[in-house]
Amino acid sequence: MTDGRDKNAPIGVFDSGIGGLTVAREIMRQMPDEDIVYFGDTARVPYGSKSKDTILRFSRQIVHFLRAKQVKAIVIACNTASAWALDPLEQEQDIPVLGVIKAGAFTAAQTTANGRIGVIATRGTIDSGVYEQVLRGLNPGFQIFGKACPLFVPLVEEGLTHDFITEEIARRYVKDLQYKGIDTLILGCTHYPLLRTLLRKVMGEKVALVNPAYETAIELKTLLVEKGLCHDPRSTGEGGALGTPSSYRFYVSDLAAQFQEFANSILPYDVAGTEQIDIEQYGVSH
Ligand code: DGL
Repeated sequence: MTDGRDKNAPIGVFDSGIGGLTVAREIMRQMPDEDIVYFGDTARVPYGSKSKDTILRFSRQIVHFLRAKQVKAIVIACNTASAWALDPLEQEQDIPVLGVIKAGAFTAAQTTANGRIGVIATRGTIDSGVYEQVLRGLNPGFQIFGKACPLFVPLVEEGLTHDFITEEIARRYVKDLQYKGIDTLILGCTHYPLLRTLLRKVMGEKVALVNPAYETAIELKTLLVEKGLCHDPRSTGEGGALGTPSSYRFYVSDLAAQFQEFANSILPYDVAGTEQIDIEQYGVSH
């Protein structure tokens, strides 16, 4: 089938680089029968400091690439790309397109007791105001406090997830949020779930940490069930092997070996291969 509605077609997942693997990992855990085509835009990362127009252009190219792989649904695993590109892409595509922001906002709305919610994310995501918009739509009484944490992404990519330098920076970043008395903190960037232990230590036990990756996988599953698009292993004789590595394909726009090393450190199995492609050759029209 080539129309993207074959239920045994893969799910397309994309991010500016490695961070979206935290979302892919949740999809793998919660939907072990699903095949995944992952694209990490490692040549053009970071997205968090780029403009809306640029992110939309990049995202459209990636969607073209994923459609060429005949995916049945697309998950924008990047918060910044979800903030700037989800609405237009949803309108342009005839397959389901999901972002990570609504799922995170819904969970936060259900979690908070005092209505004071913190959001930490890239500058792009904070500037877009999208978390605030979605949360206020859910409850106009919520008080939302955003904080851009631009140093977190490079610190995670340097492997400093448990380092005292990262902890010190985290303390400075969240100080204002702590003064505001938030009881819920959205980890609004793909990399931040990898700082969960450190953020738990810094924020204390009383502040709930929301990982949008987890909820996004639940939202995806619900959507696939509703649309009758769940992978059916019986129809292909695969027997539904749990997380079979061959059902996952990884593509990047640069530095495939580096990506693979990181992927191996956070995924529950070793990635067999990562292919580098020229994303610029994919058209921007839709
Ligand atoms: N994936 C991005 C996000 O979730 C973080 C990395 C970047 O700035 O590209 O916003």
